[in-house]
Amino acid sequence: MTHSLLVCTTCASTWQNGKKVGISGGETLLKELSQLQQSWELRSHFEIRAVSCMSACSHACVVTFVAEGKYSYLFGDLPSDAENIPTTAAAILSCAEIYCDRADGMLAWKERPEPLKSGVIARIPPL
Ligand code: FES
Repeated sequence: MTHSLLVCTTCASTWQNGKKVGISGGETLLKELSQLQQSWELRSHFEIRAVSCMSACSHACVVTFVAEGKYSYLFGDLPSDAENIPTTAAAILSCAEIYCDRADGMLAWKERPEPLKSGVIARIPPL
């Protein structure tokens, strides 16, 4: 594993009396990504990891691409409703393939699929 896809599982949660109820949009997104990953040709290069928050909570759902020596990308405003989740998950893996292919991880706007085209919250330079 040389790359990681971090998926916030707290995003798009429903809260009642200070407690999370039901399955969050982030958990649904993670499940969809994990299912697609099983037949994904890059599955041995990309770890998909659940995280509890990446401090972009007002932009749910949120994922991040990270790899040593590459730019890190934090994406938000990714749809996680039942109708859009397959498209969102497929777009994330499609963009991850481009990220994996780039030596520095740079992702040009025009090559990113929707909804990741307009969803960049941060691009962090490599160490
Ligand atoms: S709850 Fe998902 S980024 Fe904070």
